[in-house]
Amino acid sequence: MTDHNIPVISATGLFTPEDSISNEELVASFNAYVDLANRENAEAIAAGEAEELPHSSVEFIEKASGIKSRFVLSKEPILDPQVMCPRLPERPNEEISILAEIGVKAALQALERAGRKPEDVDAVLCACSNLQRAYPAIAVEIQAALGIEDGFGFDMNVACSSATFGIQTAADYIRSGSARSVLVINPEICSGHLNWRDRDSHFIFGDVATAILVESRDIAPAQHWEIVGTKLKTQFSNNIRNNFGFLNRTSPESRDDKDKLFVQEGRKVFKEVVPMVANMINQQSERLGIEPSALRRLWLHQANAGMNRLIAQRVLGHEASEDESPTVLDTYANTSSAGSIIAFHKHSSDLADGDLGLICSFGAGYSAGTVFVRKVA
Ligand code: COA
Repeated sequence: MTDHNIPVISATGLFTPEDSISNEELVASFNAYVDLANRENAEAIAAGEAEELPHSSVEFIEKASGIKSRFVLSKEPILDPQVMCPRLPERPNEEISILAEIGVKAALQALERAGRKPEDVDAVLCACSNLQRAYPAIAVEIQAALGIEDGFGFDMNVACSSATFGIQTAADYIRSGSARSVLVINPEICSGHLNWRDRDSHFIFGDVATAILVESRDIAPAQHWEIVGTKLKTQFSNNIRNNFGFLNRTSPESRDDKDKLFVQEGRKVFKEVVPMVANMINQQSERLGIEPSALRRLWLHQANAGMNRLIAQRVLGHEASEDESPTVLDTYANTSSAGSIIAFHKHSSDLADGDLGLICSFGAGYSAGTVFVRKVA
């Protein structure tokens, strides 16, 4: 391989919404909703015809998930016990859509950090879980908003693994020579697909956008991350599912069609995904001739602190420190495909030339992706 078909990560970008919701605020609003619903249903509950809804708890949320707060684009309606979903008004077609808008913000930061002009980009991949419309592709809208006239874009959805699948796709374009500079953008408005009235999951998600600029080494800035190897895997499971779609839609405010929002069997996901991901990392390390214990840092998908602890332990052979496997779950919660990229964006600048690290995602599908990187500084 020559320099022009070796893929590297030139830079990343991050857009974080201004507002956040603490567990305390979230639980107060959820419990107010529960009290209201139980009062409304008091007769049916007394007659044994309806179940009394139980309260949520801050202690449970933090212990079960490691999440302490989450950023959101529409705080007040989410916390209003009479509404409990974001209110992001539909925009006219002449205006940029909200998903493209936050994607552009993350992309501009990545481009600036790489010293790259938008017109130098050949392709834009919008890789995320929660696309807001069928077409035109959000990626094409982002491409236009950035002023990339000569290039192409498309959307791809592999749920929480969208970013790593996007990185491998971009890396393959560089390897094959079909592009030299590719923006992979992960705008995630997870608050729109979360059932804020569901006690088992109301605390899980937050909103954010990340961007990764994947380029050929010959045009990359002096400081970059060489993509040493990528590996993707999918295995069908109904344990994380969302049935929303144009053939079977509902209002986000509906209390009945729960499966048109995010639903999961959290325990099963935990049990099945930990070994799947740990084995995948170890097998790919072996293929690449990398001793897993030599990985200086793991930037894992941010869904649950306990899952990350177990995966890191199986890979490194010991309990990982915060330095070896940083978490952003406490402040960002689960941000689907963006989680491992936020961790990488915030916790990678201190690594030294030659240090090896791993970006790893896992989620619905099931889907999992590994991106082994080496710092060049
Ligand atoms: N407040 C208080 N108690 C709650 C609660 C809440 N918000 N939610 C659930 N509980 C209770 C349950 O009712 C249950 O009570 P019981 O033991 O009396 O039946 C108990 O807490 C344990 O519930 P469970 O759902 O088994 O919790 P858990 O320990 O599995 O944690 C998750 C839940 C979702 C945090 C965890 O399973 C998880 O993160 N799994 C992986 C999810 C994942 O990665 N998904 C990918 C999404 S992209």
